[in-house]
Amino acid sequence: MPWSPVKLNSGHEMPTIAFGTWKLGNGDGPINQVDQAISVGFSHVDTAQAYRNEPEAGKAIRDSGLKRSEIFITTKYSGLNGLDIKTSIKNSLENLGVSYVDLYLIHHPRLAVPDIPSAWKEMEKLVEQGVVKSIGVSNFGVNDLAVLLASSKIPPAVNQILLHPYVYATQAPIIEYAKKHKIIIEAYSALIPLTQRPGGPVDVPVKELSKKLNVAPEQVLLAWVKAKGAVAVTTSSKKDRLERYLDAGDIFLADEEIIAIDAAGAAGSMNAARKLQAGILIFAVCVALTIVGLRK
Ligand SMILES: NC(=O)c1ccc[n+]([C@@H]2O[C@H](COP(=O)([O-])OP(=O)(O)OC[C@H]3O[C@@H](n4cnc5c(N)ncnc54)[C@H](OP(=O)(O)O)[C@@H]3O)[C@@H](O)[C@H]2O)c1
Repeated sequence: MPWSPVKLNSGHEMPTIAFGTWKLGNGDGPINQVDQAISVGFSHVDTAQAYRNEPEAGKAIRDSGLKRSEIFITTKYSGLNGLDIKTSIKNSLENLGVSYVDLYLIHHPRLAVPDIPSAWKEMEKLVEQGVVKSIGVSNFGVNDLAVLLASSKIPPAVNQILLHPYVYATQAPIIEYAKKHKIIIEAYSALIPLTQRPGGPVDVPVKELSKKLNVAPEQVLLAWVKAKGAVAVTTSSKKDRLERYLDAGDIFLADEEIIAIDAAGAAGSMNAARKLQAGILIFAVCVALTIVGLRK
């Protein structure tokens, strides 16, 4: 399972596959799921103020018996309850029951208030105070990153973005910009072709590769994420699937296989745009017909 760690521009190392706690809810469920992920070998937990289950993630981490240095914790400033960054990180540390987090992200550029440079200064202070090891952003576009970099003392270590084959073409400029500025891309929801768009064009190369390499479709998509140089942020309720996710670290896709997935993703996103255009057209025609009907 060589999802080898990556060295961030902060100098710290980060495991390149993370177990995420979004949508896991509260109570014993998320505690058991984080515990399960750690027990199969995940050493990076991705949570957020907005997921409202930092206490559960923290309990599972503390009960795992791992040393604090053996687990990488990411959480995010989500602007929950209108709280500022300084108060939010204090709450997150209390929720998680730890004295520092490895990575703290601004969850979305619209949460960088009153503006990106001012919010980022607050993030930089947290590094100086030692309560977070590295800082980064999520869902930032190229312009947001440019504004941030123009005023930052500490550059963002990562940008966690939506990344799967159907959005690859639109996200490519962000990936390119990040690479140029030594910002690591983290890919979330990479399995959308399986979870939300089954039957789409990406299924074709994914199924073919799955058969050819004798691996599961989700492993092909995670191998694609790795091939794009991104860190995978994923999740599963199932032990065997989590093991497969980790095993996907051993899968190396050939250039032509990656190109085939990219091409199917681009074809799928074109279909989506066409469907949207067609939908708008149908809607406009219906409105026009209704107006004509009302006038009669
Ligand atoms: N920064 C942000 O704004 C942001 C946004 C979204 C997510 N995230 C992070 O990313 C993490 C993962 O997000 P995600 O859940 O959208 O990720 P994902 O990796 O795309 O999807 C994970 C889901 O895929 C299902 N799955 C796996 N293989 C499958 C298959 N072959 N067929 C059908 N379903 C399959 C799993 O279901 P089973 O449980 O049944 O295995 C699991 O629920 C979150 O928990 C969060 O930490 C961040």
